[in-house]
Amino acid sequence: MDRLRIIGGQRLQGTVTVSGAKNAALPQIAAALLSPHPLELTNLPVVSDVDNMLGVAQLYGAQVERLAHSTTIDAGEIVPRDVSYDTVRRMRATVLFLGPLLARFGKARVSLPGGCAIGARPVDMHIKALAALGAEVAIENGVIVASTAGGLAGGRVVLGSPSVGATQTAMMAATAAAGECEIVNAAREPEVADLAACLTAMGARIEGAGTHRILIEGRTQWQPARHHGIPDRIEAGTYAVAAAITGGQLELTNARMENLAAVIQVLEAMGASIWPSNRGFVVSREGPLRTADITTEPYPGFPTDLQAQFMALACCADGTSLIRETIFENRFMHVPELMRLGANITLQGTTAVVRGGVPLKGAQVMATDLRASVSLVLAALAAEGETVINRVYHLDRGYEQLDRKLAQCGADIERMRG
Ligand code: UD1
Repeated sequence: MDRLRIIGGQRLQGTVTVSGAKNAALPQIAAALLSPHPLELTNLPVVSDVDNMLGVAQLYGAQVERLAHSTTIDAGEIVPRDVSYDTVRRMRATVLFLGPLLARFGKARVSLPGGCAIGARPVDMHIKALAALGAEVAIENGVIVASTAGGLAGGRVVLGSPSVGATQTAMMAATAAAGECEIVNAAREPEVADLAACLTAMGARIEGAGTHRILIEGRTQWQPARHHGIPDRIEAGTYAVAAAITGGQLELTNARMENLAAVIQVLEAMGASIWPSNRGFVVSREGPLRTADITTEPYPGFPTDLQAQFMALACCADGTSLIRETIFENRFMHVPELMRLGANITLQGTTAVVRGGVPLKGAQVMATDLRASVSLVLAALAAEGETVINRVYHLDRGYEQLDRKLAQCGADIERMRG
């Protein structure tokens, strides 16, 4: 298993090109199974979650042609067969195949997914959404089994909370329904709006994506399509922290400030300066880091996927920061690992109290999930001496060429193979 060796203390300076959004790409790969015509996805990140999702599409019989940053998926000949638990356990996003398979065949069986160990992450809202469109859904021996007698019907899907995945499941299923579907309390994440853009290119009729209320006209006439995915706002936010934590300056090309408003607000409050450039935006920090008070929320609030990275940053700010996690109850696996680097953090329920300002010192640490791992990389960039991060495959799930991108800006980072 690969490891990363980082010698901290280098001020990062330069340009980082932000890749396409992993969390936009995954539902779009699932969406390709709705249509008998090919879907070409461009601006695809080269990360292992995308490879795995394409691998599952192939198991259903899709023809996948993969180039570095694009793919064409032809689902003309797919069958709704059982895919083994072993294949899907690695990634929660595989539940997103449920809606498209049900829409296309009137039946689907998908194993309950695995994914990052960051909480219970149930799928009840996905199931309720499909039931609201006329499906019968049950869980049998760890498999979600869905079927419809006469096809999906139009209807009203009311989500108990604005789940990103359940909104996407409902949208994809609704494209095949007989009639109009309304999704109430829909997630407003940019990745939901990007799925709508992709489905629209494929022939769907969707209004309101990006707001709390989405309307979808069913019985889509599918057509061959091409879609260019949005940039990864979480990757951009991660490099913004890298600039701030090292007292450096990075231009993040392809990044969109408008998708990071809550994050930029916190960064500025912590002492960073941010300004737009022709190709994205620039993050810089010269003065001292200040403490933060952060609560994770559904979009447009502060994203849970940047909570761990900002905790690393808060460790370097003199004083006490509070970080509340409201989306995933158990998303604090980075805390004990950050403490190995000398951080002073106490957990009080879903709040982390970070007493920062004590210099971090390099150590051996363990990557546990995707975002937790990258928080260790960020802390290591600021720590004195050498940090070795084990189990780097977690990072490879969602960060394209992380070590190379950081090294290009002056980080002392090396991937040790094997
Ligand atoms: C997506 C992102 C993930 C991000 C999360 C929240 C992808 C591939 N992943 O995950 O990186 O952290 O949004 O922004 O896009 N829940 C239920 N029942 C359900 C579904 C969800 O209780 O049926 C709960 C979850 O356990 C969690 C909360 O709702 O506590 C939010 O989950 P959701 O928005 O669905 O996240 P994902 O789509 O899985």
